[in-house]
Amino acid sequence: MEIVFESENIEQTEKLGVLVGKLLVKGDFLALTGDLGAGKTAFTKGVAKGLGIDEEVTSPTFTIINEYHGGSVSLAHMDVYRLKNPEELENIGFYDYLQDFVIVMEWADKVKEILPEDVLWVDFKVSGESKRKIKFASKSAHYDSIIEELKNCSGVGNK
Ligand SMILES: Nc1ncnc2c1ncn2[C@@H]1O[C@H](COP(=O)(O)OP(=O)(O)OP(=O)(O)O)[C@@H](O)[C@H]1O
Ligand SMILES: [Mg+2]
Repeated sequence: MEIVFESENIEQTEKLGVLVGKLLVKGDFLALTGDLGAGKTAFTKGVAKGLGIDEEVTSPTFTIINEYHGGSVSLAHMDVYRLKNPEELENIGFYDYLQDFVIVMEWADKVKEILPEDVLWVDFKVSGESKRKIKFASKSAHYDSIIEELKNCSGVGNK
């Protein structure tokens, strides 16, 4: 199942993240794709808020993984842009996060071969100076149900 949202500005992208964050449970994995500056981190800031995390989310470009606690579920925010090969993820404890966290991974297509089979793909496309097309693609009943819930939410451009 797929759904595309059109975001008109950074606030809408973050708001979409909040809506998604509210629907996530332990073990969920969001695999984010899209160019530099497409809005992946902006969206993740919203996800953290939706999970009830107060701490400010910053880009894990250099740390690769940032952990956030204090919400309904802990969040592992990853950015694998700088990884030379997917095996490096193992060294930084990637597999320890799969069960107990919500994982949001930027540039997930770079390590596709080591991702769990069932992830929710979220693709960000720049469609104007402040416009973004955000596409969710699911292949499982669990993530389909999240997409169904999103369809019922108003306030973000559901195309
Ligand atoms: N509709 C929009 N949604 C999100 N960001 C937008 C939007 N319009 C403009 N922007 C701008 O685009 C940039 C998005 O930056 P962000 O760090 O979220 O991108 P990113 O996809 O995480 O990039 P990177 O791959 O470098 O990590 C910000 O400067 C933001 O102000
Ligand atoms: Mg980013």
